[in-house]
Amino acid sequence: MTFFDTIYRRKSVRNYTGDSPSDDQLKEILKAAWSSPVAMGRFEDLLLSVIRDREILEAIEKNMSELSGREVHPLHGAPLLILVSVKPRSDEVANNEYSSAAMIVHNMALAATALGLGSCDIWGSLQAANERSDIVRMYELPEDFVVCCGIIIGATDEEFPLREIPEEKIKTAFLD
Ligand SMILES: Cc1cc2nc3c(=O)[nH]c(=O)nc-3n(C[C@H](O)[C@H](O)[C@H](O)COP(=O)(O)O)c2cc1C
Repeated sequence: MTFFDTIYRRKSVRNYTGDSPSDDQLKEILKAAWSSPVAMGRFEDLLLSVIRDREILEAIEKNMSELSGREVHPLHGAPLLILVSVKPRSDEVANNEYSSAAMIVHNMALAATALGLGSCDIWGSLQAANERSDIVRMYELPEDFVVCCGIIIGATDEEFPLREIPEEKIKTAFLD
């Protein structure tokens, strides 16, 4: 797959077979994460948590089901969740930190696509879980680290056709 093919084939996948990436695939995905740019080069303020523990995945999903009053599966049956946590430099997570975390997640999404694996950025259910100390405790984060976003990854039966990208899918201003 060429570089641009990977970009145009990537999509959010919400159907998984249940099979995890192999150890070699996971290594490649993590290498992509480790290649990401991060604000001010403060790699020490970021942490990846590779979660395959069903108990943790189910706790995140159960919390969302309780909040929405019906059974929901915000992790879409994926076998693997990788959290990106940050150690905020002030009281609240700021733009720099969210942006660094997004870079890391997107590098992993592109790596997963190149490997033929499904992936999807995850935020809503993780934000909700951040309010639950019992769930956060399960992440075993170092002190002062906060979950910023995450990505689910796994085998899928879906195909990855080249996507037609409409001109200005994102409105674009040219100041010539
Ligand atoms: C910051 C961010 C958070 C997202 N959170 C979720 C999420 O919690 N659950 C989900 O299913 N998709 C989530 N998505 C995926 C978006 O819905 C998806 O990227 C968008 O609809 C475009 O579709 P595409 O990724 O297939 O191009 C998130 C994407 C981003 C960038």
